Amino acid sequence: MSEPTTVTVPATGLVLLVGVSGSGKSTFAREHFHPTEVVSSDACRAMVSGDEGDQDATADAFDLLEHWVGIRLRRGLLTVVDATNVQQRARASLVALAKRHHVLVDALVLDVGESTAAARNEARPERDFGAHVVRRQQRDLDRSRRGLRKEGFRRVHVLGPAELAAGVTIVRERSWNDRRELRGPFDVVGDVHGCASELRTLLLELGWTVQEDGAGRAVGAHHPEGRTAVFVGDLVDRGPDTPGVLRLVAGMVEAGAALCVAGNHEAKLVRALKGSSVTVAHGLAESLEQLAAEPDEVRARMLAFMDGLVSHYVLDGGRLVVAHAGLKEAYHGRASRQVRAFALYGDTTGETDEYGLPVRHPWAQEYRGAAAVVYGHTPVPVATWTNNTICLDTGVVFGGALTALRWPERTLHAVPAEREHYAPVRPLVPAAAERDPAVLRHDDVGGTRWLETTHAGRVKVPGENAAAALEVMSRFAVDPRWLVHLPPTMSPARASRREGYLEHPEEAFDEYAGWGVRRVVCEEKHMGSRAIATLARDQDAARRRFGVADGSTGVVHTRTGRAFLDDSLGLVARLTSAVAPLFDELATDWLVLDCELLPWSLKAEGLVREQYAAVGAAAREALPAGLAVLERAAARGLDVADLADDLRRRRDHAAAFRDVYTSYVRPTSGLDGVTVAPFAVLAAEGRVLTLDEPHPWHLARLGALEDPFLTPTRHVEVDLDSPASRAAATDWWLALTADGGEGMVVKPAHRTDRASGVDRRVQPGLKVRGREYLRIVYGPDYPDSLEELRGRDTGHKRRLALREHGLGLSALADLVAAEPLWRVHQSVFAVLALESEPVDPRL
Ligand code: CTP
Ligand code: MG
Repeated sequence: MSEPTTVTVPATGLVLLVGVSGSGKSTFAREHFHPTEVVSSDACRAMVSGDEGDQDATADAFDLLEHWVGIRLRRGLLTVVDATNVQQRARASLVALAKRHHVLVDALVLDVGESTAAARNEARPERDFGAHVVRRQQRDLDRSRRGLRKEGFRRVHVLGPAELAAGVTIVRERSWNDRRELRGPFDVVGDVHGCASELRTLLLELGWTVQEDGAGRAVGAHHPEGRTAVFVGDLVDRGPDTPGVLRLVAGMVEAGAALCVAGNHEAKLVRALKGSSVTVAHGLAESLEQLAAEPDEVRARMLAFMDGLVSHYVLDGGRLVVAHAGLKEAYHGRASRQVRAFALYGDTTGETDEYGLPVRHPWAQEYRGAAAVVYGHTPVPVATWTNNTICLDTGVVFGGALTALRWPERTLHAVPAEREHYAPVRPLVPAAAERDPAVLRHDDVGGTRWLETTHAGRVKVPGENAAAALEVMSRFAVDPRWLVHLPPTMSPARASRREGYLEHPEEAFDEYAGWGVRRVVCEEKHMGSRAIATLARDQDAARRRFGVADGSTGVVHTRTGRAFLDDSLGLVARLTSAVAPLFDELATDWLVLDCELLPWSLKAEGLVREQYAAVGAAAREALPAGLAVLERAAARGLDVADLADDLRRRRDHAAAFRDVYTSYVRPTSGLDGVTVAPFAVLAAEGRVLTLDEPHPWHLARLGALEDPFLTPTRHVEVDLDSPASRAAATDWWLALTADGGEGMVVKPAHRTDRASGVDRRVQPGLKVRGREYLRIVYGPDYPDSLEELRGRDTGHKRRLALREHGLGLSALADLVAAEPLWRVHQSVFAVLALESEPVDPRL
């Protein structure tokens, strides 16, 4: 028996099975591929018509097939097409599809002969089309044979009866640029351009040991900590010692100490060395002259090295992509002429600028990918991050510097040029000059999107919610540069069964205990308006940290990103001065605070006047009048006692309702009468404090600020294992709410976001509102319908709370990490979008 045949297919790519009906394509696919990898025309026919034999459905079936295959290829999944594919036309559209997604495509021909196939079909009741069909397919196949290799397939595998009988092993081959298994750490080095001396200095400064040959020439290097160097290409041209650079880098690559991608200068030098006629410009002459002085075998080795360079690498589990001129996300790990052209030359428009150099699309400005893209090609004065991309070409050959990026550390290291080796054609411009990073774009947030967040996992933002949020953001929100966080919604504790209570502390305690939380903080819920304050110490800090140079130093905004008061009132300045000691204590010159702005009537005046006051006044007029009528009726001997009792109860309810809302109404004039109750320091320079510090820390820090503008937040800590501790907190809550106090918020005393590994259901906070206060929410007579209210559903609100909490944390984490504004904004925007979900507003 002969050996099994090995068939190598691309791990990310397309495989077309080719063979007449009955040649065994479906059987082969079942044996060698995962069911989800196989897209069959029969299955598509069945899906669009209910009958896999329905030939009338063929056009629609192939429509579906191509759509399905296209989605899989875009997502980088191996896809096997199980269809006869015996006609050139049918293959051509699939080959084109693979090209569109920049993946390789193989043909796998099952060639069993017409008679075998026909005989097999005899036995298949579902293939009763007669022998002429197979004969026609066989003729098509035979006609295809010769040209098959030229149709754009990377490989054509032909398996005849003998190979099929001996067995087949499928090997999935990853593309050359897919080296995600390499985890580094890496030292990525920018364009060297023949500056061998600076390269050597850079490597030494980064801790590399350089090996020399007998003549003292650097021929290799290794790093004692096992680092790998990655060169972004353009090792050659313009500089004084191109052969020296090639000798060192080729030595490192051959020894496994370095990787190198191709630059446009290598590509041209290779063509010149191979004898193509090229224009000798841009420093090519220097290279050719220097290489001419090398022995033939050395030059041959250097040519082979340059000729073998791949267009880009995907490294470190997909987190790092290195390409000479950068690479858009759709091209990462892909292989095609366009991918290579983009990686070597960038996204060029074909136009040239006033210096005769190509105009390039600012692809980095559009980049929204998760992988960091490190590149060179366009000299910049200093390497800076733009949307998770960084250009390391700092023009060493033009007298700039040679720059390396350490990965995963993300630190930069630069060695200045020893001199200007070559005069620059045009002045160096920052790569990011084309787009102001603070200007947000519709496509940052529009449409349905999934956000990957550390703290809430994958969060879906539906398109219609995004549209609603966009409306709010663009029309009412504060300057987005100040809008770095929105707070999550909060669910009440589950309904209490206690007589007369809808919400009660014990339920919140039980819920947290059930989620494995041992300590909680009960915090007074101020009856005011939730406010987020983003404050810079001064105008300088505002400019430096938030890019705001209009003289403003911060903002205080609502849960939906709107400003509270006309800032001419000086709210920001007043609050900044009240919390000023924190700047030094926390070694920061900016802060994001979670607060309540008091009094409630400040923002809710209209609501109070038009709704609550109206209800109160109407009730207080109508109910006594009704009672007076009933009293007269009773005096005439009618039995209206029950009705009168009812009205009396409702009159008392109305009075209580009025007492509750009026206790939150306080006259203000300008900032007079206004106070702020801060209860968390969300973030400061270098730290997301709401993650780093337990909640009691925040209350203690903020409580220590003594300024009449600040209202302290009363609170108690509760040990959930201690009945006495729980009882004390309950008493505290009863006292707090007896005369209408809004209630309290119960929060875990330690970190509970998803990344901290606790129960995923733990709510960031649960509110427990006072019995009297709930009249404002559910109406004066709500105690009459307690039973019904106990059935209210908090599930949706809680799911939203978890996602919004995670998104808010992601926004702060990105802000602290100095990620671009659009990234911060995406999370903030998503909170707002989720807030447009329909949820019972009384919860
Ligand atoms: N078969 C076989 N020996 C093989 C492969 C297939 O006997 N080595 C049989 C199968 O069991 C089936 C018939 O041949 O009854 C056709 O095989 P199938 O894989 O369904 O052929 P396809 O090429 O998929 O045919 P079609 O184009 O009609 O779907
Ligand atoms: Mg089949």
